[in-house]
Amino acid sequence: MAYYKDLFREWAAHQALRRPSTKQSEPAFYRRLEQALDVHRENGNLAILKPRWDDSVIDFTSSDFLSLSRSGRIRNAFLQELASLGNDWRLSASGSRTQYGNYDYLRQVEAEIAAFHGAETAWVCHSGFFANISVLEAVALPGDAIVWDELSHASTVVGLRVTVAAHKLPFQHNNPDALREVLTRLKTEDPAFARGDRSVLICVESIYSMEGDMCPLREMVAVAKDMFPTGNAQFVIDEAHSNGIIGPNGAGLVQVLGLEKDIAIRVHMCSKALASTGGVILCNKTVRAALTQFSRCLTYSGAPSVPMVASIRAAYQMLGSGQAANEQAQLQANVKYFFQALLEDPDWEEALDEGLLSVPLAEEWEERSVQSHVIPIKVRPGHESSLFVHLLIANINAYPISYPTVPRGTALIRLVFHAHNTRAEIDYLLKTIGAWVVEMLSIERGESSNTVPAAQRQFLALQANGWK
Ligand SMILES: Cc1ncc(COP(=O)(O)O)c(C=O)c1O
Repeated sequence: MAYYKDLFREWAAHQALRRPSTKQSEPAFYRRLEQALDVHRENGNLAILKPRWDDSVIDFTSSDFLSLSRSGRIRNAFLQELASLGNDWRLSASGSRTQYGNYDYLRQVEAEIAAFHGAETAWVCHSGFFANISVLEAVALPGDAIVWDELSHASTVVGLRVTVAAHKLPFQHNNPDALREVLTRLKTEDPAFARGDRSVLICVESIYSMEGDMCPLREMVAVAKDMFPTGNAQFVIDEAHSNGIIGPNGAGLVQVLGLEKDIAIRVHMCSKALASTGGVILCNKTVRAALTQFSRCLTYSGAPSVPMVASIRAAYQMLGSGQAANEQAQLQANVKYFFQALLEDPDWEEALDEGLLSVPLAEEWEERSVQSHVIPIKVRPGHESSLFVHLLIANINAYPISYPTVPRGTALIRLVFHAHNTRAEIDYLLKTIGAWVVEMLSIERGESSNTVPAAQRQFLALQANGWK
């Protein structure tokens, strides 16, 4: 069966309202939860665990950017790594890092990762999400401030809930002047910041997961140094999307810019390009001691197991030895090919003129020395589901993103490029989007006998037919 039918059926099964069928005799606890979920079902936006699709579906979605998972290369490297450990290893860490869980293999792998990233220390933990929370939990002291880019990932937002920092201030996305304004406000409101008696933690991301744009990190560091010459303003950078992708052997943005000494904390994720799982916190020994002392997330939790650490080591060895270099280059080539083809596409120009679609990253793409593999197509809000359904029925998977994941009044189709995407797939993607643009514009101009686009009509027909 075509994947889109599977997905639609699964989606529809979960959007059916439960409240009317929830019996009064059921415990109020469950009734109240169902009521809260019904609010989302009513809008057709209840989150679901999507069925897995196979490789016949064109992938502009997965996090397997370098195709290391799809190709089986990471699995083979992982199995070799496990075999190299012989039989003398225990699967479980059997304790947290402050107890029994601080085993030699984990420490050895951390030392290797720290060396790869030019950092004093590395801390491997269960996920990048967890790593971001742990850092914010541990590193800001009472009275300190955390300022963050307004488009920061959910893990930073959750971290802001557990921190003891007294001040929490967002600044406008990727805008060094906005950062300066927020820092100025802090200095004005509390002279302890100007004296260096309180610290400011500035949270940014190397490549933003929805916008796909890169942080102007050098400019931001210059602002922080200028405003806080005693060094009480420091950065936490989330390198989820750059790890494995940009920089020397994929080491990330900080290393592209040679800012290793200027960034206090780097958080690298292993669940994306590295095709593994886990988070890595790169920092100096002082910050590591603070994590050990103040992060309950990290120390009241069992340490990562040997297989998890082995998979991370396998991935880092592939990066370090240049074994992912072809995939890194292919990914860059694919994104460039997409921009070139997009800008030559006449349907595209029309969509742009009519305010239906836009790709801000396509502007001046040739000026950039390195491309992001996350490329949002901004869609006129309210149209994102229509384009998504159109693409999916054409066997292309690229998810629609709406408020609250992106700011109110904006919507997008998030394209994620991979080494395994072919030129034919990119051409087909553009052709399929072009067909949607032509159809939507003809409906809007009253030139079509239909008022509902074909893909949506197909969706409705399937619904009427019980998704068969
Ligand atoms: C920017 C960013 N930070 C953090 C995370 C969480 O990383 P992990 O999958 O390792 O928990 C993600 C993953 O979605 C992300 O995109």
